[in-house]
Amino acid sequence: MKRVLSGVQPTGDVTIGNYLGAIKRFVELQETTKAFFMIVNLHAWTVPQDPVVLREKTISLAALYMAVGLDPNKATIFAQADVPEHTELAWLLQCIAYFGELGRMIQFKEKSEGKQNVTVGLYTYPVLQAADILIYQADQVPVGEDQKQHLELTRDLAERFNSRFGHTFTVPEPLISEFGARIMGLDDPTKKMSKSAPSPFNRITLTDSPDEIKTKIMKAVTDTENEIRYDPETKPGISNLLTIHSLFSGLAVEELVERFRGQGYGTLKKDLVEVVVSHLQPIQERHRQLLVSGEVLDVLKRGAERARAEASKTLYAVKEKMGL
Ligand code: ADP
Ligand code: NA
Repeated sequence: MKRVLSGVQPTGDVTIGNYLGAIKRFVELQETTKAFFMIVNLHAWTVPQDPVVLREKTISLAALYMAVGLDPNKATIFAQADVPEHTELAWLLQCIAYFGELGRMIQFKEKSEGKQNVTVGLYTYPVLQAADILIYQADQVPVGEDQKQHLELTRDLAERFNSRFGHTFTVPEPLISEFGARIMGLDDPTKKMSKSAPSPFNRITLTDSPDEIKTKIMKAVTDTENEIRYDPETKPGISNLLTIHSLFSGLAVEELVERFRGQGYGTLKKDLVEVVVSHLQPIQERHRQLLVSGEVLDVLKRGAERARAEASKTLYAVKEKMGL
């Protein structure tokens, strides 16, 4: 059985970009693979956090995983900080990774640009991410487009380690969808939607109310042409709305273009509001129920036990090879 691992940071609120680009596919993958889905609360600390909020968000994200359909009996759901083997392997991999290759990471450049105090953690976190993946011998890593370069680094580190010490790690493949791997910001469709973008009008979160969803979609930046066509190059705003519609409604983009032919952007936007609201409402209902049930802490505890059993096997093999 193929092994799959992925994770989401418990920072901000999960966006429909995270959902359509990554989390929605976790649900499919749990049926056919041995799957590990983390809440990456250690990665969260690459930038300042409020400890109380971070703990809340970690639990809320675990509940959200379950609300969208992840089943703790089918997939291992756990918080990264509960499996200390990750950080131990990360240290060992840091001694294999090169300073220069980490400096080439686009995400580091973007997140550190213009900042006074950039932490060492922000610089080395792609190595922790590599450890997260390699420690489970993952074959596939379902992620959005923005993670492609980090996956490349993970593969390089696995290959370097294997050639130096003998076969130890599975070299993982990124699993990036051809469609929906890069949902764009609603306020600026030339940049990706992100839970950490400064403006709340950048994104729709999975916990937004129908009114918030409506306001954000109706305000979404488009263009002045008023012709509904799919063309991400010259019409990024409208193309993004069509993509989101298609992924939620299951209708092909061509069908949507046909359906909205000759109509204004307002019609597309109003329809999209309904599609998104009707899709998110049941998820939000289950999310609320899970949070009050108190079930989540128990799921995380059992998940961490299962994850540790796997992670410790790989770590043991690595330490043996390194004379530790
Ligand atoms: P963010 O960048 O929003 O803070 P994370 O870094 O926690 O989110 O990423 C969680 C997952 O969501 C990753 O697999 C990432 O590639 C994916 N993802 C993030 N933003 C987008 C987007 N705009 N479109 C599609 N997938 C995305
Ligand atoms: Na990201």
